[in-house]
Amino acid sequence: MKITCNAGGLTLKNPTILAAGVLGTTGASLKRIASMGAGAVVTKSIGTEPKPGHHNPSMIRLEEGYINAMGLPNPSFGEFRQELEIARESGVPVIASIFGATPEEFTAVANGLPGADAYELNVSCPHAKGYGMQCGTDPELVRSITKAVKAAVKVPVWVKLTPNVTDIRPIGLAAQEGGADAVVAINTLKAMAIDINTGWPILGNRSGGLSGPAVKPVAIKCVYDLYEVLDIPVIGVGGVSNWADAIEFMMAGACAVEIGSAVYEDIGTFASVSMGISNYLDRKNMKLDEIIGLAHRVV
Ligand code: DOR
Repeated sequence: MKITCNAGGLTLKNPTILAAGVLGTTGASLKRIASMGAGAVVTKSIGTEPKPGHHNPSMIRLEEGYINAMGLPNPSFGEFRQELEIARESGVPVIASIFGATPEEFTAVANGLPGADAYELNVSCPHAKGYGMQCGTDPELVRSITKAVKAAVKVPVWVKLTPNVTDIRPIGLAAQEGGADAVVAINTLKAMAIDINTGWPILGNRSGGLSGPAVKPVAIKCVYDLYEVLDIPVIGVGGVSNWADAIEFMMAGACAVEIGSAVYEDIGTFASVSMGISNYLDRKNMKLDEIIGLAHRVV
């Protein structure tokens, strides 16, 4: 079955997208991920100034996922421009993940990083003071950041949301009001791990964000809730490791999925997820569109 799709204003050859993260730090790695079958790739989040990130250890592996506190390390938009150009040689859409503390900062990064096929506004990092979810838990700020970037660029704007709220729907609605072309749910869940031998939190920043299979049910519920209230597409992310996870996200309402943690284990994930979706649709004799939001039907 054909699995080309339209995700938030972009046409993709398949509905699998590299999620923002360390694999999107260079043009070369983005190209490599694209060559392994991703339908699109998202860069590491980029800001106005070079940022070294938090102290090591900045990422730990658990049985059910990872906790990271990278701290938005990036070379700034000026330095990243060349990486974006290299990534664009991949032939798949390249989405620039950008962050800031104000609408003006977001706009400065978007303007300073031209050529992206879309921008993903990171208003949801759980452990970056002044950035991330400090913006993304305030609906008014989410609306004004989205509106400002939307007015500054001519390509689609996606907004990546935090699950660290009681109700994700008002934030999704604020992004929609600001003119977003899609929302992306979810960023990582606030988390911590403590070394019981030393009695210290393990991460250099103490607190971090949980990703991987452990967060999938939280992400599914967020996508489900957003799909119910929004008119714009929802892109699912959080613990997708195989094709069945992707189908589950689509049934919750996602038009495409982003994959992050699973790629650290297997760079072939994009191809196997795409193949699995296609085979599933063949077996069920269904089209991709027919499974999106299927879990919302009433008897
Ligand atoms: O968990 C996360 N870690 N989410 C982000 O948005 C950024 C990243 C980091 O750089 O710390």
